[in-house]
Amino acid sequence: MTSCRVAIAPSLLALSGCEAGFQSPLAPAGEQASNIYSLFWLMMAVCGFMYLLVLGGLGIGVWRGWRQRGEVAAPTIDPADRGLNRGLLFWAGLIVVGLTVLITGSFLVERRIAAARARDALEMRVTGHQWWWRIQVRDPETGGWIETANELHLPLGRTTRVSLGSSDVIHSFWIPNIAQKLDLIPGRINRVDLTPTRVGWFRGQCAEFCGVQHAHMALDVKVDTAEEFARWLASQKRPAITPADAVAARGLQVVAGEQCAMCHAIRGTQATGRAGPDLTHFGARRSVAAGTLTMSRGAVQGWITQPQAVKPGTMMPPVALSPADADAASRYLMGLK
Ligand code: CUA
Repeated sequence: MTSCRVAIAPSLLALSGCEAGFQSPLAPAGEQASNIYSLFWLMMAVCGFMYLLVLGGLGIGVWRGWRQRGEVAAPTIDPADRGLNRGLLFWAGLIVVGLTVLITGSFLVERRIAAARARDALEMRVTGHQWWWRIQVRDPETGGWIETANELHLPLGRTTRVSLGSSDVIHSFWIPNIAQKLDLIPGRINRVDLTPTRVGWFRGQCAEFCGVQHAHMALDVKVDTAEEFARWLASQKRPAITPADAVAARGLQVVAGEQCAMCHAIRGTQATGRAGPDLTHFGARRSVAAGTLTMSRGAVQGWITQPQAVKPGTMMPPVALSPADADAASRYLMGLK
């Protein structure tokens, strides 16, 4: 995560999150974000110029006052003063020009974002839940929907049109490197286009306070090349693999037979719950619990036995498992590639 296109002071880079670069609007990796990035610099330039002019004027006034201290009784304004009138006219003109530039820039950027190449757009649905993301990808071959969660894969250079909905409260979908943010509102579908221009991992974040674990509602985003994306989609389409050894087989029994199956689906098994994230290819993901923990067997085991300790308030109840069963379940889940 090193690439960053802005060459400003290191401290500013760190402040902007640019050093990491994977969750920053100042390191655009998408057409939409690039447009917003140019608008950002236009606004910085216009407003910065005006700010410096005002500070300069103030400085000159203070300096003059200081030089003439004691000489003038009180400031006088002569309405017939030509210089003063010309100065005022100049300022008014400058403000009108500055605002016109900003309004025009903003208008053009919005038009460019709205005019994404949507013709061969890939279709996805993202649904916000407290506190995770349901992701469905339209299968270009069958027209059906392939479900996954918390990890969004996007093909490079191609527009993905995402329909955003919510199952509970208002959330906000924001991948700063790729596009603008947009709310997920219950009872309504919003659409956002994502056209990534650089491969790599990025981080999305829910950007609307949605309850105690709002901060732990992150989204792993991977921009793939066309081939990588096709491979990923093909792997997501397959049902879950059958366990390779006795421990994992016991894990399958635990997961599909216990309370896990009431909320989670694992395609190809008896687990068909819909309340929680689909786990069919859980082990292939990068993180556990919507970006809360890095994927590892320890993290999975901790999460399934003590979810309230990892993410207080989560809808996931603790599962009372014997240590051997917890170990088997985590082994099985990790194997779901
Ligand atoms: Cu979902 Cu904040």
